[in-house]
Amino acid sequence: MKVFVTGGAGYIGSHVVLALGEAGHEVMVYDNLSTGNRGAVLHGELVVGDLADRALLAATLERFRPDAVMHFAASIEVGESVRDPLKYYRNNSANALNLLEAVRAAGIGRFIFSSTAAVYGNPPVVPVDEEATLAPINPYGASKLVTERMLFDLAAADGAFRYVSLRYFNVAGADPQARLGQDYANPTHLITRALKTALGIFPKLQVFGTDYPTPDGTCIRDYIHIADLARAHLDALGYLADGGASTVCNCGYGRGFSVNEVVAMARQVTGIDFPVEAVGRREGDPAELVAASDKIRRLLNWRQQHDDLEFILKTAWAWEKKLAAKRVSELAS
Ligand code: UFG
Repeated sequence: MKVFVTGGAGYIGSHVVLALGEAGHEVMVYDNLSTGNRGAVLHGELVVGDLADRALLAATLERFRPDAVMHFAASIEVGESVRDPLKYYRNNSANALNLLEAVRAAGIGRFIFSSTAAVYGNPPVVPVDEEATLAPINPYGASKLVTERMLFDLAAADGAFRYVSLRYFNVAGADPQARLGQDYANPTHLITRALKTALGIFPKLQVFGTDYPTPDGTCIRDYIHIADLARAHLDALGYLADGGASTVCNCGYGRGFSVNEVVAMARQVTGIDFPVEAVGRREGDPAELVAASDKIRRLLNWRQQHDDLEFILKTAWAWEKKLAAKRVSELAS
């Protein structure tokens, strides 16, 4: 199939692009490189463009004529979304509207959307399933929910348009062959911060909140390996190609780890007893987010391969060391 991938130079998008290439699909990446990296696009053509540039977007779709669109391009930091909500409504909701209008004008009928567990807010029942009340507690989750709602309404109005919305839990780890991984200028995610602290790039890891109503007082998340998440996108593509109806699926393993447990595993995998400091809560963080993941297994026939926190940390660690060595050799040359 021909797949148009927004945000394909970013962390998750680039892994999916690689998986699409390995599965024999033709890919065009559309990315403004605001957080993505040109070098992360290991398959297909990269068009450097912004979703706000409606003329370029329309012309690019017209030129490529894709069978399906995967939409990753977005701002993704919960804390930042609380401080700068309009950035999130602009980048995540308004830009998704631009894309959907362009997709509709081009007559493309298959769409896969990067949604988030943040649409649930603080779910009263954990593991949370797809039928749970949607009540985001931060602008990030709300901005993604707006797009979910647009997709729902568009599919209801237009029988030729079908979508799969994938609600990601905490995506982590790196390509098992270390060809790709997370590479942001200012990483905020727990595992990346922990490993960069182990490398001495950050002086210490801050643990945001130790007074949550969880067994050890720190937040619990469902960490899913990036390769398993990439697989879910290929499964969703196959599902839509087989005529599957529009749907929403959680992407997680169905078990959670606390921040303290992740820190302990990061210390074990790196062999480095890096400094950790308990600080106050970060605004917008729910206490516990764990996926009920029966639906994606049943409907998309998704199968996990790497439900193993140690493997997640090991692949991320191999990538971080590779990245650090690259930076050192760049500085030396
Ligand atoms: N945390 C720390 N210290 C850090 C970074 C994070 O204690 O330096 C804590 C956070 O407070 C949170 C947990 O580690 O309790 C995980 O935080 P991340 O920033 O790694 O991830 P989030 O749970 O905030 O968000 C991620 C994605 C979202 C997605 C969400 C779904 O960024 O896109 O998972 O669970 F919606």
